Amino acid sequence: MRILLISFILSSGIVFGQDIPTLVPADPFDPNGDALQLFGAFQGFETDNDKIVSVLFYQTASQREVITSTFDSQHGSLENDLKFDLAGSFQTLSIMLTHSMTKFLSIELHETMSGLGTAQRALTEIVMSRTNQELADVRSFYVNYYGHSLVSDIERNTCCAYQKLIIQMAEGMRDESNLVNMTLVQEDVVALYEAGPAIFGADKNVYVNIFSLRSYVHLNEVGILFELTYGMSLTNVVTTEFTGDIGYALYSICKYV
Ligand SMILES: *[C@@H]1O[C@H](CO)[C@@H](O)[C@H](O)[C@H]1NC(C)=O
Repeated sequence: MRILLISFILSSGIVFGQDIPTLVPADPFDPNGDALQLFGAFQGFETDNDKIVSVLFYQTASQREVITSTFDSQHGSLENDLKFDLAGSFQTLSIMLTHSMTKFLSIELHETMSGLGTAQRALTEIVMSRTNQELADVRSFYVNYYGHSLVSDIERNTCCAYQKLIIQMAEGMRDESNLVNMTLVQEDVVALYEAGPAIFGADKNVYVNIFSLRSYVHLNEVGILFELTYGMSLTNVVTTEFTGDIGYALYSICKYV
């Protein structure tokens, strides 16, 4: 259920109003009034869910951050009140909406690695879609909040080529410039071919490094030139050459690109 919620939130862009701006900032913005409304929602015999929805579900991430801190300074802890008064997925989603982007992502990353087995797909998708700066914010929040680093959790819960890929991405080592060096594109195309379709088995390291270090615009050019040169799509190559977590991760990056 939580994983579904995460996917919904990350893919729709509704909650953070970031990727697809379907949510525009409330104007005029009245954080004191909003905090008071929320406070009122907890006062009656029954919690007023409509008030909670109308405040938390219709404001942008940065506005919700201000509302949450206003509430906390004037009326105690919003998170605790939501925890106490609500239940089920409505509780889960409402609490998530009070978290800053960084805290939200940190908690979700932690959750993907808690419990039985690691939710590798969610882990890949969260790490893949964040900028180096966002990842740096998450890493520093994470270590303060949990007392150990994000990378150490990834190390304990993953292995092999997938581990190296996800760590290089989590450490924010991806080139983020928008300039594409076509000489390097050509070199990468040849390297990927030589390390994949040209040999029996595949040289995972070559794929891991190119897919975790190069910019997404660069990878887009690599995909185009690869197909032009060898008559096969890079997406197909990664799905035939690799299986398991690494296969799915490389495939996801191709799709994301
Ligand atoms: C482009 O990539 C090639 C090959 O790696 C490198 O030798 C060259 O210096 C790069 N050019 C620029 C402008 O960075």
